[in-house]
Amino acid sequence: MTADHRSGLRGPASTVQEFGDAPTEVRESTHYKHEYVQTFVDKWDELIDWRARYASEGSFFVEQLRRRGVTSVLDVATGTGFHSVRLLEEGFETVVSADGSAEMLAKAFDNGMKFGGHVLRVVQADWRWLNRDVHGEYDAIICLGNSFTHLFSERDRRRALAEFYAMLSHDGVLILDQRNYDAILDNGFSSKHQYYYCGDDVVAEPEYVDDGLARFRYRFPDGSQYHLNMFPLRKDYTRRLMHEVGFQRVETYGDFQSTYADDEPDFFVHIAEKAYLDQEDAE
Ligand SMILES: C[S@@+](CC[C@H](N)C(=O)[O-])C[C@H]1O[C@@H](n2cnc3c(N)ncnc32)[C@H](O)[C@@H]1O
Repeated sequence: MTADHRSGLRGPASTVQEFGDAPTEVRESTHYKHEYVQTFVDKWDELIDWRARYASEGSFFVEQLRRRGVTSVLDVATGTGFHSVRLLEEGFETVVSADGSAEMLAKAFDNGMKFGGHVLRVVQADWRWLNRDVHGEYDAIICLGNSFTHLFSERDRRRALAEFYAMLSHDGVLILDQRNYDAILDNGFSSKHQYYYCGDDVVAEPEYVDDGLARFRYRFPDGSQYHLNMFPLRKDYTRRLMHEVGFQRVETYGDFQSTYADDEPDFFVHIAEKAYLDQEDAE
């Protein structure tokens, strides 16, 4: 998308999150658009300090993609553009950057220019109607930064995964990550487990959790705070859905390691392969 197209992405940006009188009742797949308000988007890069994130992820995703001979990538949860820019820098041939939030995409476009003069090909698209708004076939789809958690119904999750599956080449791969909600649901959060993101001094902590909602608060050094309402995906549930929409093999890493104790990692990364396998090779 060109700069002219990009300017069309900027709407009348809201600066205040709206959760109404009963914030813990807000459990809707479309609500993310009201959560990533302009001021929070501006803060997001403070939350996920790019240099620190680069260091903590290392070349995990790049290696996973290269190992599978990937050249074209669709980033479906671009956010402010961290992975899209990273993959362009690493020389992946086609990188398309989609997201349902216009505010996020505008920021991503600016970041593409700022970090290396990349003109990101941004497309505003909701995962549930991805095929309608994004065209082509990709070797890989990435959905990173605990994004899939924004879908609140199983129907929406199945629909989104089916859209991802349909846009992959016959042996394509989906890489999707999520927070370790099992640990939060099973061990509680009374210990006030705080997640210090890569950005210094930004604290993300669960404020309310039940089987259908994980409401997190993000506190910034200037005293400002924002919330995200998310669905607490259990690891094996996500894996099962991936299998059920047709992915043949799903490998799950804990904090980028292949072996881990289940309640230790903060994040899981699922790598779901589409290539059709003999029965005994499928996991
Ligand atoms: C937690 S942010 C992560 C952004 C980025 N991947 C990162 O790691 O920094 C989640 C992103 O998913 C997007 N998103 C959430 N639900 C979506 C949906 N149904 N369709 C498209 N994008 C969605 C949001 O707009 C937001 O940019």
